[in-house]
Amino acid sequence: MSNFEKRISELMAKMNLDQMVGQMVQPERQFITPEQVKKHHIGSVLSGGGSVPGDNKPEDWIAMNDEYWAASMEADDEHLAIPIVYGVDAIHGNSNVTGAVVFPHNIGLGAAKDPEMMERIARTTAREIAVTGVEWTFAPTLAVARNSHWGRTYESYSEDPQIVTEYAPRFVRGLQSDLGEESVIGCVKHFIGDGATVHGIDQGDAQIDEEELRRLHLPPYQAAIDAGVLTVMASLNSWNGLKCHEHRYLLTDILKDELGFRGFIVSDWDGIDCLAEDFGKAVELGLNSGMDMFMVTEKWEEFIQHTKTLVNSGRIPKKRIEDAVRRILRVKFEFGLFDKPRPAERKLSKQTEIFGSKEHRDVALEAVRKSLVMLKNDDALLPLEKSTRILVAGKNANNRGHQCGGFTVNWQGAISNEEIVGGQSIWEGIQTLAPSAVLSDNLEGNEANPDQHDVAIVVIGETPYAEMLGDIRVPGLLQEYSTFPNSTPIPLDDSEVAEVYASNLYLHEMHPEDIATINNITSRGVPVVAVMLGGRPLVVEKELEASSAFVMAWLPGSEGHGVADVLFGDFDIQGKLSFSWPKYDNENWNVGDPNYNPRFPYGFGLTYDKTNN
Ligand code: BGC
Repeated sequence: MSNFEKRISELMAKMNLDQMVGQMVQPERQFITPEQVKKHHIGSVLSGGGSVPGDNKPEDWIAMNDEYWAASMEADDEHLAIPIVYGVDAIHGNSNVTGAVVFPHNIGLGAAKDPEMMERIARTTAREIAVTGVEWTFAPTLAVARNSHWGRTYESYSEDPQIVTEYAPRFVRGLQSDLGEESVIGCVKHFIGDGATVHGIDQGDAQIDEEELRRLHLPPYQAAIDAGVLTVMASLNSWNGLKCHEHRYLLTDILKDELGFRGFIVSDWDGIDCLAEDFGKAVELGLNSGMDMFMVTEKWEEFIQHTKTLVNSGRIPKKRIEDAVRRILRVKFEFGLFDKPRPAERKLSKQTEIFGSKEHRDVALEAVRKSLVMLKNDDALLPLEKSTRILVAGKNANNRGHQCGGFTVNWQGAISNEEIVGGQSIWEGIQTLAPSAVLSDNLEGNEANPDQHDVAIVVIGETPYAEMLGDIRVPGLLQEYSTFPNSTPIPLDDSEVAEVYASNLYLHEMHPEDIATINNITSRGVPVVAVMLGGRPLVVEKELEASSAFVMAWLPGSEGHGVADVLFGDFDIQGKLSFSWPKYDNENWNVGDPNYNPRFPYGFGLTYDKTNN
């Protein structure tokens, strides 16, 4: 990244403190206008999950970003033309936007074990982002999730660093490619140890020693940096009691100095707020840690004031600000932002017809087919003949929202077919391949009848959630969790945690309707193929026992057809668990643990070809 240093120096020589501090600020779109972007020299704006302009079509995004861009590029006596960079959570396709191709969440991609495909997924995602006039995605997540109680487990490729480290550079290269018109800026996150917190508590404390941090959680970042990733997001969790957002050793000594990262570090959503009660102090701690850009969604004016005061009083060295601004400008130059036309005039924003196109959907379809993992197949019930008389039931059978999971159109995901424009539900895919199949009226399978149905496909599992709302635990009982085998015995305070997804990993307790539907059908004499949707492995002993075949489909995204393709054997089933599968709630297995004894081990997955099992 050295070609631009002279140009950066020339530009910085013209910048006053206001202009420099403005570059370091990233407000959320709902809290800033284009006029304010210009007035305060703002460097970046973001959309939080579900924060969308107009009718949420690509055209609405282009128009919005074009306005911000135009404001940032107006040059006059008080303002320098420095292009703004707009950031979104395109974490499984450009999934905030109506009509986008929604890819399987990362946990399914980990099961697909296909690094080459990752590059194509990332390239396709980059095109779907670039169409909307946006330049930056907060992806890929490089969490190595070590406890499936964590609500963000599905954002992780694997509990083992090997797959994550192999995927990281491929995904980064796919997104950033030649930094040209079909590329976007990548952002690896959340640095570091987000997947290592005690009991998988979102934003909790990673109580591990440095050797383990380096062995399990650092290698994916090194790989992404070596592949040229331009930005890194700091994590909201702590490492042994100290928040990553104020961790100078992690952000400056390791990330910048040791790993040689020369792009910029962005803070996570209002992440500095929790560093101190006094916001000025929080700003100081965040700045001194080595953070470069601050995602201060609403309080950005306060941030600017505090930063200027801190610099003027000498509490923040001017060279810390200069380091941050140089890094931000370096990314902007490196990505060619200064030379790119305004969003409305870019090559792909003039080709909105490629958004959600068949060509793009085919990549997602391939990913779905490759990600399914078969856990049980008695008497080779699968694959099914298309002429078989099939009843389809289960709450997740005909719900494109459910199959996409969190971070889809809304932060917490969608719950209906209507919200996901394009693609097919699993039922719709089955119907296309086996036109005689029938969908149960109330999805509970009351019509099951062996005279009419040879088999039932029952689609069960989780419903959408994101971040801390997906955590699983009994509130108030964290102290007890610390006595689990394999976990560190340190008491924790969860008093601030309001709502979680469930209290334990047992599917029959969190979703009793699933086992009820399966039993409803089998008790009438029709065997069941269970297909489970969900963001993590759960304890499914009862559901496994009651079904003749069991397939884990993860959160496949918009292309439910891919699930049907595999159930009917048009494609072999080939996914392998990238997470250990539990038998009880109170154990936490990860591959390589001493006395490793999960229900299904890491790497497990039956295929139709018996010679491979
Ligand atoms: C999440 C990040 C995300 C950011 C912006 C935060 O709540 O932790 O992963 O990129 O919001 O939406």
